[in-house]
Amino acid sequence: MLVLGIESSCDETAAAVVSADGRVVSDVVSSQVALHAPYGGVVPELAARAHMENIVPVLEQALAGVPGGLSAIEGVAVTHGPGLTGALLIGVQAAKAIALSRELPLVGVNHLVGHLLAVFLQRTAEPVPSFPFIALLVSGGHTALYEVRSSSDIEQLGQTRDDAAGEAFDKVAKLLGLGYPGGPRVDKLAATGDRNRVALPRPLARKQQLEFSFSGLKTAVAQYVANAGSALDEPHIADVCAAFQHNVVSVLVDKALSACERRGVRRLVLTGGVAANRGLRERAKQLCAEQGVELFVPPFASCTDNAAMIAYAGAQRLVGGERDDLGLSVFSRSPILGARDDSPLRRYKSSRLPRA
Ligand code: KG4
Ligand code: ZN
Repeated sequence: MLVLGIESSCDETAAAVVSADGRVVSDVVSSQVALHAPYGGVVPELAARAHMENIVPVLEQALAGVPGGLSAIEGVAVTHGPGLTGALLIGVQAAKAIALSRELPLVGVNHLVGHLLAVFLQRTAEPVPSFPFIALLVSGGHTALYEVRSSSDIEQLGQTRDDAAGEAFDKVAKLLGLGYPGGPRVDKLAATGDRNRVALPRPLARKQQLEFSFSGLKTAVAQYVANAGSALDEPHIADVCAAFQHNVVSVLVDKALSACERRGVRRLVLTGGVAANRGLRERAKQLCAEQGVELFVPPFASCTDNAAMIAYAGAQRLVGGERDDLGLSVFSRSPILGARDDSPLRRYKSSRLPRA
């Protein structure tokens, strides 16, 4: 079964065609990073407008890579939340139009489920995990731990109380004058810095607690930068990056391994844009080897926002006989995962919760 996936929840307009067993036939991602860079973060209105301009060319390009084009497609999957409402609506409207005009089944996909199942995309010959596994999802919008028992049985074990890890990387990079998006720049400088020269807090460091908090650490960096003033030359900035990254990474990995231990699960998956972080990969590799936990880190193209993961997650729902109708709506926040994320009650509850 070939499924067309569409993703427009944040600042990437993406379309992909994937088979139900994870073969990636075509995968197109149009990034808006340059558009938002001058503002130091994603501007929702600009994102929605850019999605509107990009969606048709991106879909055309994705379908051009498929023998038989649209005629070969057997289902349409689209991210319908969580994300920016105006941005999500563009992808959902496009998906509905294609499903209606071609009489194809339509399913909405939770963006987070897409990230959690992205490890099954067959982009390389690397082995994939069997269920159950613990997943650490770390991106610009989300930081959470899950136990993934099947493609539809997913339990959230803990999440951030405030900033997502990627958001903290981006804000710290901004404070240090490194530009946007900051994660890769902090990562690069951290490799040359000495973390022992800068004392920063490790918030909610207790391993037993599976919740995260990064805003205090970010504030500590802001205070450090203000106090350092003109003494903050490049080597000094690298030291700050090293100390900040070390504290974020050690909290993430320690809690992920604590979740593995508590659930008696010996498989850990890292996913989301921050999974590209070299410090995170190295520490996870080292501690997983020491503790006998198998580690899976999907290739970068599967970790960052893409539509292949949405097509794959949607294909699992379609194969299971699930369908959404043209009344499919979007939602901006969802605290809990599962097949019924779009239920009115879930949306009502989630709308009252703080940012995930
Ligand atoms: O998953 P993603 O592409 O988009 C969503 O937020 O959904 O993640 C983007 C985030 C940004 O905050 C970016 O700074 C961060 O991932 N990131 C990194 C690295 N590469 C990307 N953070 C730390 N180290 C990196 N090497
Ligand atoms: Zn994402």
